[in-house]
Order: sequence, then structure tokens, then C-alpha cells
Amino acid sequence: MTSRISGFYKLPPGERLKAAANESGLGAEEVSQVEKGLGIEQADKMVENVIGVIQVPLGIATNFIIDGREVLIPMATEEPSVIAAASNGARMAREAGGFSTSSTGPVMRAQIQVTGVVDPFSARQSILLHKDELTRMANDKDPMLVKYGGGVKDIEVYVIDSRVGPMVVVHLIVDCRDAMGANAVNTMAEALAPRVEEITGGRVYLRIISNLADKRLARARAVFKAEEIGGHEVVDGIIQAAALAEVDPYRAATHNKGIMNGVTAVVLATGNDTRAVEAGAHSFASISGRYQSLTHYEKNKDGDLVGTIELPVAVGLVGGATRVHPVAKSTVKILGVKSADDLSRIIAAVGLCQNFAALRALASEGIQRGHMSLHAKNVAVQAGAKCDLIEIVAARMAAERRINVDRAAELIAELEQKTKGEAAN
Ligand code: MEV
Repeated sequence: MTSRISGFYKLPPGERLKAAANESGLGAEEVSQVEKGLGIEQADKMVENVIGVIQVPLGIATNFIIDGREVLIPMATEEPSVIAAASNGARMAREAGGFSTSSTGPVMRAQIQVTGVVDPFSARQSILLHKDELTRMANDKDPMLVKYGGGVKDIEVYVIDSRVGPMVVVHLIVDCRDAMGANAVNTMAEALAPRVEEITGGRVYLRIISNLADKRLARARAVFKAEEIGGHEVVDGIIQAAALAEVDPYRAATHNKGIMNGVTAVVLATGNDTRAVEAGAHSFASISGRYQSLTHYEKNKDGDLVGTIELPVAVGLVGGATRVHPVAKSTVKILGVKSADDLSRIIAAVGLCQNFAALRALASEGIQRGHMSLHAKNVAVQAGAKCDLIEIVAARMAAERRINVDRAAELIAELEQKTKGEAAN
């Protein structure tokens, strides 16, 4: 299989789907599910008070090699240029072998907040003394997870001072295997609460997962050869940009937003919880006490650019929408992932690639040129352009550097007039 499908972007959507299906082994039924999208009956089973579905474009980023494997990346996003930029970045990374990834494994934390404890440090030690009993109780809530090698791996206890007095906070450290894990760890935390109250003499309020998934980190690394990305000046420009994001939260926010353009698009395309991954990424970005970038860029001894990323990626393949959303089932198959951990590492690679592509554009021609041609198409559609007119009107507006709905409407009227005139002749 290859992710380097030449001329992919020039194909009509149906042909692209066929090409992706051929490469990834999607069957006729799965292809038709992607074409049909999420039906109202299914949507009605997923959330409450359903009145319809809102559709978001689903595209494929090409050219990715991740851990030596060719991977097509399904991305769901409303933002123009994101998928093209990811494909472009991945093409540049290919020359040095693509992305290599690693992870800490699928481990989440649940918190149990104990208040009103008179002797919090002593209570902390009492809980730790009961670690085996509490672990057994929690694991009894999810024998399936334990059977597959997951379950509680550790218990940590913190004493935290707050404005309403000290609190004891118990962390259940749970290997969630192929689940995102929120349901599993929340059930465990709720089950332990009464026993924790007995042990500590305190009152439990919160029993919930922490989205700062610092034990579920995914990492990716890639070398971008200087000659592939526009030369040594571009390498230096990217390093300058990255250095600002390391020290300036105003820039770090935008830098990380660019990373999340890729991350969230894959999380959404696979039916995972975008908010959980975003909360994890941004809280991890400020774990040092200052909000910082999630990627780093350096020059290696050959003068090439080396990019790295590390961030929490709490995603699953079982238990959430991934298994029930008809399109998500196919996107997971296109990715060819066998575990939630595989998926998290691919997502980290896409985040790095997306960030690299944005920084490269910023360090060379600027971001607007690429953005503008797609933006111009959207504006043309808004103004009522159809079929071939969309491309023509967009190209004219981009060339004139006047991209707005009024100008699009003028051009549509002008071109339609001309077509009518030609037809009359
Ligand atoms: C736009 O969606 C994302 C960028 O602003 C990211 C960045 O500035 O690095 C281009």
C-alpha cells in the first residue's frame, strides 16, 4: 500500500474515496457508509433531543509514513488548507523516512476529592496502606478490562491546600487499553468513594477522570531535510518561530492551535472526544506553570530540521462513538490501527506535521497565499457560484486580491451575462 497517491487532489470526491478504499481495503459496505454519512436514526441513539446532523468535510491527508508504515490520514475539519498542508508536510518528511513515534501507553487518572479531613497527611498514608484492597475493589468493576491486561496500576494520593481548606485527592492510575477510559475510570472512582470516606473520615465530592492525561503521552519525531523545505533560511526561520512559542504564551497559543488543527481533525474523524484531547493538550502545555509550545525544533549536525512533539492523546477504539458512528468505523479501517495506542501515536505525528507545515509557510511565503485560494472558493460559493463558476470566480478574486462576497457576486453576474450573450449568438 502507498499513501503517496499521485494526483489525488485532482480527483473528484467519489474517485478519491475509491482510491483510499483500494489502498486501505475498505469493502463496498464501508464505502457506502462513508458516502451516506451519519443517519438521523443513528444520531438519535447517540445524543438527546436530536433534530438533525451537521456535516463537516472529511478529507484524506496523503504522503504519511509513520513508523515505517504508509498511512492515509482521514481528517474532519471545516478549515481550508489544513488537509493540503498536512499532505504537503508529510511529503517533505518522507524524504528522511517520515515520522517515528512512541508513547507511555494508554494510562489515565481518575480523581477522588476528599474534603473535611482533620488529619489529611495521616489520611493520605491510610489510603496508601489500603492500596491493594482499593485496587481489587476498582478492578472488580471492570473484569473485562483486567482480562485484556488493563485495570488499576497504581494509586497516588495528594494533599492539596485550597481556599476552603486542605483536601485529600486520590488518583487512580488505570490502564484503559483500547478504551478512551472515561466510563471505566469514572465507574471505578464512584465505586471506591464510600470506602475512601470510611478510611479517611472525610466527605467525598468529585469522582471523575482527569483530562490532564500526563500518563498517556504520545510522541513523534521527524527530520525535514533543508533542501526539501526551501533551504537553510527556512530551517532558521522555523527555529526562530519555535523559539518564540517556547517563551511567549501569546504565540504559543497560536502555535498550538496549528497543532490542534491536525490533532482535532483526526480525533473527530475517528469519532473520538475532541474536547478531552484539547483539554489534555492545553493543560499539558502549561504543566510547567507557563503555557508553552507542544513541539520543539532543532537543527541536526547536517543542518536539517528535526521536529518533535509530546502531548497527551486520550483516544479509544472501543466504548465511544468510534464503534457506533458508521463513518468512524471506516476511518479507523483506513488508518489501519490495531489499538488505541497506535491511533494516539498517529495523531501525534499529524499534530507535528501540521505544525511544521504552518511554521514553514510562516517562515517563507506567509500563510495567506495558501489560505486565500480556498477561502476565495468558499466566498464564491457564498455568493451563489455553482459548478465551474466557483473555480473561475475564485481565481479572479485571488488574482485581484479582492476576496469578498460583493466582488464575487459582481463577477458571477458578469460571467453569467457573458455566457447568456454567447448562447444568444
Ligand atoms: C491557522 O489555523 C493556524 C496557524 O495560525 C498556526 C500558526 O500560526 O502556527 C497558521
